[in-house]
Amino acid sequence: MNWLARFFRRSKPPLDADLLRRIRASFEEAASDEEQFPSTVDPRIYHVQLIVERFGDLQGKRVLDVGCGKGRFARVLKDRNPGAILVAFDLTEAMLRFVPRGIHRAAGSMTALPFETGCFDAVYATESIEHAVDIELAVSEMCRVVRPSGPLIIIDKNARHWGRLQTPEWETWFKRRQLERLLRRHCREVSSRYISYWADVAPDGLFIAWLARK
Ligand SMILES: C[S@@+](CC[C@H](N)C(=O)[O-])C[C@H]1O[C@@H](n2cnc3c(N)ncnc32)[C@H](O)[C@@H]1O
Repeated sequence: MNWLARFFRRSKPPLDADLLRRIRASFEEAASDEEQFPSTVDPRIYHVQLIVERFGDLQGKRVLDVGCGKGRFARVLKDRNPGAILVAFDLTEAMLRFVPRGIHRAAGSMTALPFETGCFDAVYATESIEHAVDIELAVSEMCRVVRPSGPLIIIDKNARHWGRLQTPEWETWFKRRQLERLLRRHCREVSSRYISYWADVAPDGLFIAWLARK
């Protein structure tokens, strides 16, 4: 943890502490549901491949998984890049307990990341920004902690498909342009695309990947 301590900073208390407590409680309970919230992911799934390919060689690099859950994506990145310094960040301690050894863990809200500006070489968030409530703040925090020219990836759900799955009251899905606009405030290269779980299956529009470079 020595490495991480250098990059920690005091952060402001997150907004709406009561809602945050409810969100955390909900995920604390969900953590025992391995079927809905698995601790591993098939590395062939395109969501994983996209991050692996886009980030490239991560040996010696610092990488942040925002809203990591049980760290299933971080696990694959660490397996592929044993020399990378992976930090798994989540609101929920019960989720973080599943994060494998060799990956640093940190708890808190993505709307107030407790890290120094520009201290990560790459940052990503998979299906977690949708729970941030203050989306603008979460995106700006992700962008703040990545170094200049560093890549960011957000994978989340498409607002046009809202209603397709059961969602808690605080969840938000996004239009492509909406997150592109937020990312453009901080990043020089921004794009988005529809993705599906498998590279050879045409996307049905539920998942969008936003790709940015600061
Ligand atoms: C649907 S899970 C996705 C987990 C992981 N990214 C994955 O793809 O397996 C959403 C995660 O976001 C976390 N989360 C929700 N609100 C958060 C917040 N404000 N800050 C950090 N993490 C949060 C939850 O605790 C949960 O682990």
